[in-house]
Amino acid sequence: MNTSIPLQTHLPQASRLVLGCMGLGGGWDQTPIGEADIAKAHAAVEAALEIGITLFDHADIYTRGKAEQCMGELFKRQPSLRQRLLLQSKCGIRFADASGPGRYDLSAEHIARSVDGILQRLQIETMEILMLHRPDPLMQADEVAAAFSRLRAAGKVQHLAVSNMQAAQMRQLSASLDQPLLANQLEMSLGKLDWLEAGSCFNDPQLRQQAYALNWPETLAYCQAHHVQLQAWGSLAKGLFSGAALPKGDDAAASAVRRCAELVQELAHAHQVSREGIVLAWLMKHPAGIQPVIGSSDPARIHACADALKIELSREDWYRLYLAARGQALP
Ligand SMILES: NC(=O)c1ccc[n+]([C@@H]2O[C@H](COP(=O)([O-])OP(=O)(O)OC[C@H]3O[C@@H](n4cnc5c(N)ncnc54)[C@H](OP(=O)(O)O)[C@@H]3O)[C@@H](O)[C@H]2O)c1
Repeated sequence: MNTSIPLQTHLPQASRLVLGCMGLGGGWDQTPIGEADIAKAHAAVEAALEIGITLFDHADIYTRGKAEQCMGELFKRQPSLRQRLLLQSKCGIRFADASGPGRYDLSAEHIARSVDGILQRLQIETMEILMLHRPDPLMQADEVAAAFSRLRAAGKVQHLAVSNMQAAQMRQLSASLDQPLLANQLEMSLGKLDWLEAGSCFNDPQLRQQAYALNWPETLAYCQAHHVQLQAWGSLAKGLFSGAALPKGDDAAASAVRRCAELVQELAHAHQVSREGIVLAWLMKHPAGIQPVIGSSDPARIHACADALKIELSREDWYRLYLAARGQALP
């Protein structure tokens, strides 16, 4: 599959798959990074580059900044590496500290301070995409826009994007920006279906109530209409359908996962690709041109993900997977 995606309008080198770097840097504790962490990051980055991945997804909070630090070490040791890839990182989530509880913070001051921290840890001068990690109820769109303008003018950040935002929040933010929002990163996978359910299961009263409240259909439609790149975090559903331990028990949810995992295996066999290939190809079949963000740091699994680029699922197989994952026929 080699169709272009919205992000390539602004960043032509952007790959269809993105490497999520949340698994790099060791644990989410204060232990400093060591050689083993740097070696693990190196192996993951090399594997990703080998399969054509050019976009790497970070956040200032991942392993408390250590994921970025590991990547920064790689740039320091091999400066030419920076030219071979595009970087996005996120800010806006704060851990509890002396000044307050765990909170979201999209104030201009926090955004500016976060970007300086990201660039310093990554040991770079500029990054391609700054992503606002979560909506902050106290966000003021004009303030965010002014903060981004200053960062852009200083050459620290080239583009702005969001994550976990609904259409109304994107619309509000866009009205203050003089640059387009490039992407929205949301949780989407065979294990997380509400982004589809909300749009198609309109005659199921319970779903309608839950899903329309979340406004998914409008968010997908907004991104498609405005050429905002949709990125899927959690795209491998933590391996639930591609080899990780399956849930036991007779309840409907566990049975659906087991049936869907079985079907993924059958399709992988039929197409002669990995199970990861099927799981990701299912997301990539969606007409929005979704970019799966894969959170693996295992080189073998990263290589297995490349199979997603080799196939396009038929409509019928796409629906078979969808129905297996939701555990029942469509209404
Ligand atoms: N914007 C947001 O709010 C947000 C939230 C969460 C994550 N993210 C981003 O999205 C990326 C991906 O998300 P994610 O890490 O939550 O989800 P993911 O890609 O669904 O899962 C990756 C995790 O699942 C494990 N895994 C995958 N297949 C497996 C299998 N067959 N058996 C056992 N374990 C398996 C991987 O382990 P191995 O490393 O061993 O392969 C890794 O720990 C992250 O790295 C991050 O960049 C963004």
